[in-house]
Amino acid sequence: MARVIAVANQKGGVGKTTTAVNLSASFAAAEQPTLLIDIDPQANASNGLGIRTRELDKTIYEALVGTLPVAEAVVHSEMPYLDVLPSHINLVGAEIEIVDVKNRERLLAERINSIRHKYKFVVIDCPPSLGLLTLNALTAADSILVPVQCEYYALEGLGQLLNTISIVRKHLNPRLEIEGVLLTMYDNRLRLSNQVVQEVTRHLGEKVCKTIIGRNVRLAEAPSHGKPVILYDALSIGAKHYLDLANEILEREKVRQNGASASVESSIEAASQVASAVASAMTQEEKK
Ligand SMILES: Nc1ncnc2c1ncn2[C@@H]1O[C@H](COP(=O)(O)OP(=O)(O)OP(=O)(O)O)[C@@H](O)[C@H]1O
Ligand SMILES: [Mg+2]
Repeated sequence: MARVIAVANQKGGVGKTTTAVNLSASFAAAEQPTLLIDIDPQANASNGLGIRTRELDKTIYEALVGTLPVAEAVVHSEMPYLDVLPSHINLVGAEIEIVDVKNRERLLAERINSIRHKYKFVVIDCPPSLGLLTLNALTAADSILVPVQCEYYALEGLGQLLNTISIVRKHLNPRLEIEGVLLTMYDNRLRLSNQVVQEVTRHLGEKVCKTIIGRNVRLAEAPSHGKPVILYDALSIGAKHYLDLANEILEREKVRQNGASASVESSIEAASQVASAVASAMTQEEKK
């Protein structure tokens, strides 16, 4: 079953779409079947992968607001292991259209249930707000990845986001984890960038991803060519940083899964210890 990662931060322009697109492409490059869900009406992630959303009549909008089976809206990308559930500008009105719908925060979670098993990773690109669309993403997700730009007000708004995460955990999705806070657009020539790294690490410690995404012009150019950076310039530093991030998350996922099987093993071991204790107690009883 896929691990669903929502890339979210209500702050605009911090690198959410760049991260969602290039992390998905890096998972795909590692031959991990991946679905990129674009739930931002700006449709930047879809367009950045060369999908002309305005020409589509089957998108996340019809799947979320209407009754279109989500599988019918999914399109293949240029990369063999990467599919996309594209957005559409019509999604702008969706928050109002679904306001009276029962379980309106759970629509995305319910809709993707039928296709989740096909993928190892599902990455959701969220809009810059904490509205109903982002709530749908957080309710559908196993974890949230929070891009934070290395700039002066880096930590601003993070408190509000953490508060939203705890509300979502309490009322909508108790399994939501923090995948990590990802520092983006880092420039090692700027003292400010280094100060931000220190400041964010001091406040958030282990929650900060080990990988830091540097400022790299190739990352900014790639979307206008309709490609992830790994196809646009595989040797660029931007491509390397997002491959590093994908590896970091893959490694964590391996540990998590080994942990899960270790805990299954330890409960099997515990159960067999209990069984042999019961057996020996019964033999003792018989001897009496
Ligand atoms: N590491 C980077 N190096 C250089 N440019 C970057 C980098 N990351 C993002 N950018 C550029 O910064 C701008 C904002 O990035 P992006 O669109 O990913 O942010 P966003 O958080 O998705 O924005 P929005 O809130 O509008 O959805 C874009 O022009 C993008 O190309
Ligand atoms: Mg965006």
